[in-house]
Amino acid sequence: MSRQELGLPDSQRHWQEVYETRPGRDLSWRQEDPVLSIALIERFAPDRGSRILDVGVGESFLLGALYDHGYRHLSGLDISAAALDRLVARLGHRAAAIQLIRGDLLTASPLGPFDVWHDRAVFHFFTEESDQQRYVSLAAASVAPAGVLVLATSSPEGPEQRSGLPVRRYSAVDLNHEFCREFEPLFAGEEVHQTPWGSSQSFT
Ligand SMILES: C[S@@+](CC[C@H](N)C(=O)[O-])C[C@H]1O[C@@H](n2cnc3c(N)ncnc32)[C@H](O)[C@@H]1O
Repeated sequence: MSRQELGLPDSQRHWQEVYETRPGRDLSWRQEDPVLSIALIERFAPDRGSRILDVGVGESFLLGALYDHGYRHLSGLDISAAALDRLVARLGHRAAAIQLIRGDLLTASPLGPFDVWHDRAVFHFFTEESDQQRYVSLAAASVAPAGVLVLATSSPEGPEQRSGLPVRRYSAVDLNHEFCREFEPLFAGEEVHQTPWGSSQSFT
């Protein structure tokens, strides 16, 4: 019998079901070697004492890799408890040193402060303008004054739906437009992600 949770927002139910039913090799966004995220974090937050939050962390390989690169103030947040359970299993002994938070980015109070806010493939799911504004306000309130946001969204060449949900696709100019009231642009580029089954997905 599958675990049931009542009174959850639809998005939480969706992600909980994804992580309860689909193995990692079936998740299009799976990235075993998060080279670009690590390069950007090492470039803009080289101090191993930097406080780093990965939002919508899922069962990502990033926090484990950052731990292996010497970072020790690591946190991850996700709406799905099942995702966090899978992440703990992946992290093994490193899990004890990493703070994991179950929370919804659309209702959470300010977090941190953090020196790095990392988001890969989460912001683009917020297709309502009010949700986008809520997200930007939360990030601004959670990032320390000299901190950085490292963000990857679907690019204009990326798919219109991901994980069965509609996404908003962003160019670097679009992202700057969304975040410019609170953040200054430092770097923008495109990353072509290979899904576990070998198709390409483009991210900004
Ligand atoms: C496409 S996955 C990306 C996971 C991870 N960032 C990666 O690159 O492997 C999107 C993640 O965002 C989480 N998520 C979706 N909506 C959320 C919300 N409102 N608050 C927190 N997490 C959310 C999902 O549970 C899922 O783990």
